Amino acid sequence: MKKSLLWILVLIFVSTIVSFSLAQSNLDVGIVLPTKDEPRWIQDETRFNDALKTAGYSAEILFSQGSSAKEKENVEALITKGAKVLIICPHDGTAAAASADEARAAGIKVISYDRLIRATEAVDYYVTFDSIAVGEAQAQYLVDKATGTGNPLYLYAGAATDNNAFLFFEGAWNVLQPKIADSTFIIKNSSEAVALQGKSTLIRDEMGKIIGQVTTNWDFTVAKNLAEANLTIAPAADKGNVFILAPNDGTSRAIADAFADDNDVKSYVVSGQDAEIPSVQYIIDGKQSMTVLKDVRTLVSDAIAAAVAYLNGKTPEQTNSYNNGKIEVPAKPSVVVTVDQSNVKAALIDSGYYDASEFTGLQ
Ligand code: BGC
Repeated sequence: MKKSLLWILVLIFVSTIVSFSLAQSNLDVGIVLPTKDEPRWIQDETRFNDALKTAGYSAEILFSQGSSAKEKENVEALITKGAKVLIICPHDGTAAAASADEARAAGIKVISYDRLIRATEAVDYYVTFDSIAVGEAQAQYLVDKATGTGNPLYLYAGAATDNNAFLFFEGAWNVLQPKIADSTFIIKNSSEAVALQGKSTLIRDEMGKIIGQVTTNWDFTVAKNLAEANLTIAPAADKGNVFILAPNDGTSRAIADAFADDNDVKSYVVSGQDAEIPSVQYIIDGKQSMTVLKDVRTLVSDAIAAAVAYLNGKTPEQTNSYNNGKIEVPAKPSVVVTVDQSNVKAALIDSGYYDASEFTGLQ
């Protein structure tokens, strides 16, 4: 046999062994997060990396960059690497069902992380914050700051592809609706919400109609454009001292900037969530009114505890369940904390969540 042919055979043999051992590598946990473009998910990555240092299990984190196709590729790559547990925060809750099904078929436990995967039986567990409580905290803040009647209210929501957008809105509606019914607030930017304002609870389709009109799609640019469009058609009488339900920090900053730029807006109260570093700075500077702290360390440690339970053939702790349209998914929701200027230092700096050096103007 020619020497070169022999070498080719040796190379083929070696590369087969290498790819076989990669496919069978010792990956315990695969983690898929939705995007690097929002500080929220960088928080999760950082906290996962911190927690994994001491967890004693191998893990790999992949980002889907707002694409369900990329998310599916990520899941398939982790399956190929031999992951035994998948922790996944879906970009689109329904589209992710196919990935969950694939993981289940490969014998992998599927943990839905922060956002629920919908329309499949292949979800073993859901680690989450109490998202209804998030919406309630946002709305309660607006209610507590409002006096008298006729206060202009502008509603904004998350992406309709994210189950959480419905939970946040449901929580907000629980608190806002009685205050719309008694005329404390007047909705200014959603005819669908006005049409439903007499109903104390809304079914998913009804919320879907409102969300369809006021969605930010979790996108800062969409949020800014929508707020500007709302302000362009609103007469000066619908501005003045306004109240804004903004679904999260990124969209809150975008919407707040748009309202701050309008000369007919005298003051605004605007909600948020995630305690993102840029929004904490906005709160210190008086440009965003509040945020809802969802301590990502808790979510990460709950997710890792669930993964470890599965790796050891056990079942993670359950205190609640969420319906994903197909099954009741066992879950353990965590509490959330309202943060504004009055407690920002105690809740986020003194608690050790962030370092003071991240911010300027802290009192
Ligand atoms: C998360 C929020 C986040 C939003 C946008 C939601 O599912 O719960 O924390 O701000 O997605 O990424």
